[in-house]
Amino acid sequence: MNAQIIDGKRIAGEIRGEIRRETESLAERRVKPGLAVVLVGEDPASQVYVRNKAKACEELGFYSEVHRLEAETTQDELLALIARLNGQADINGILVQLPLPKHIAEKAVIDAISVDKDVDGFHPISVGNLLIGDDALQPCTPSGVIELLKRTGNEPSGKHAVVIGRSNIVGKPVSMLLLREHATVTICHSRTPDLAAVVRGADIVVAAVGVPKLVKADWVKPGAVVIDVGVNRLPDGKLCGDVDYEGVSQVASWITPVPGGVGPMTITMLMLNTLKAAKRAHGII
Ligand code: GUN
Repeated sequence: MNAQIIDGKRIAGEIRGEIRRETESLAERRVKPGLAVVLVGEDPASQVYVRNKAKACEELGFYSEVHRLEAETTQDELLALIARLNGQADINGILVQLPLPKHIAEKAVIDAISVDKDVDGFHPISVGNLLIGDDALQPCTPSGVIELLKRTGNEPSGKHAVVIGRSNIVGKPVSMLLLREHATVTICHSRTPDLAAVVRGADIVVAAVGVPKLVKADWVKPGAVVIDVGVNRLPDGKLCGDVDYEGVSQVASWITPVPGGVGPMTITMLMLNTLKAAKRAHGII
């Protein structure tokens, strides 16, 4: 079998088209979604992410503010900025780029963001709402995974989904979203015995562990759908996922490439969250 490719770039483009149309109709009501992105320090990867987020805002007609703070910024200074952004009516979403410098407590920062503006979906109240199935702003990469499945006709309902990885950013929330979509969900991690055997039982595999090419062809049930959230840099500088793409694409029915699979969805879902937060702030939904 040769798997069909789940083209994240194309699907992200499709969703951005939908966002643009909604933004245009909101403009007629004088509503403009606004996103504030905060970067502390000079982590090179974070700088690229932040630039891409600002660019996406521009393309979609959103208002955006980028706050670049020096690495020595104190936690109190960062919290004061968040408090100001929480009160700003032209800002509907606040994203503080992670990781933060060691002297700043990530939890204190995440907790300080207003739940209504929590477009990352990392605030404990957002996480709680996700768990109980309330209408929360959902973390971007996990909701991107669900969109990729649905928009390729791979409805999770009734399927056995195996998630490899239990991070707060991907593994746990994507498991909750799959459960909400009526999948039977197994969460695996570093202490799961015989991981290969568990993965072999999956109709849907979501790999989010950060181990290059961990998932091999003989781990995958023929016809399974494989979503690779991993982004790993190999010694030769090339990017690769958590799935051995060459081998697994011979066995799976659908597979996401790296790059070009899950990656393009993350910023797109951030824009969708910002749009949703803007509509809510204006009582539109
Ligand atoms: N750093 C890497 N991924 C993310 C993300 O999804 N949100 C934030 N805020 N920082 C990140």
